[in-house]
Amino acid sequence: MSEPVIIERYAENSAVQVIRFNRPEKKNAFTRDMYRTMTDALNAANSDNGVRVTVFFGTEGCFSAGNDIGDFLAAAMGGSMGQDLIDFLYALAKAEKPLVSGVDGLAIGIGTTLNLHCDLTIASDRSQFRTPFVDLALVPEAGSSLIVPRIMGQQRAFAMLAAGEAFSAEDARLAGLIWKVTTAEQVEHQTLSAAAKLAAKPPEALKIARDLIRGPREEIIARIDEEARHFAARLKTAEARAAFEAFMRR
Ligand code: COA
Repeated sequence: MSEPVIIERYAENSAVQVIRFNRPEKKNAFTRDMYRTMTDALNAANSDNGVRVTVFFGTEGCFSAGNDIGDFLAAAMGGSMGQDLIDFLYALAKAEKPLVSGVDGLAIGIGTTLNLHCDLTIASDRSQFRTPFVDLALVPEAGSSLIVPRIMGQQRAFAMLAAGEAFSAEDARLAGLIWKVTTAEQVEHQTLSAAAKLAAKPPEALKIARDLIRGPREEIIARIDEEARHFAARLKTAEARAAFEAFMRR
């Protein structure tokens, strides 16, 4: 059986770590195991001098459909989401080296919000960014309620995070959510080449520049925690459970 997340080095540049979501039969929805694998890879990169940049990819035509709704339903029915999701969000927010993503196709929920923690995102023109948190009776996560209004202003943030409106790749670029739009054929090549260029830069200067641009992490971590408290409570509500069940029995 193939691994649902593949961690590898870019063949042409071993300083580029690639995290590839590889669960296409479930639209690359993230399970708790997948979060753990990704968290370990991000944390390992922080202390590995051989890694200078980490890249995220999904599979052809699908970045990620977000958190596995089966896992949400299990939590709604008395289980727990555990620490796996929150640990992944911390690892993203605290990553010490540049994060780059190449999005092709659907980027839903955390498939959208993880890009907020990336320094460069290149998306194919057929990509779509969508966060249906409220439709699932949930609330925004990953620090998105803090970062998205800063990036794109109150109204577009509300349209995305509360109204659940889909943003095309071009909408996302204009809103400042992503860096560039390209074709589906070009997205991986351009993303890897951007990552390789970053990996060739003086790492200490790049780190300082990145830290200055990203600003203090403490407030992002605090917002991740605040959102997570609401999120955990929402997961236990009847309206959330009904939304998860409706999805699972389609
Ligand atoms: N969690 C669990 N399974 C998911 C999933 C998710 N987030 N997204 C898709 N899947 C599964 C489907 O259940 C289906 O499984 P099955 O073949 O065993 O029935 C498979 O992936 C293919 O999805 P399907 O819905 O048939 O494909 P589609 O092209 O018609 O639609 C989506 C794709 C992504 C638009 C749709 O699956 C969807 O809306 N997913 C939920 C997205 C979401 O709300 N994520 C949570 C955000 S917080």
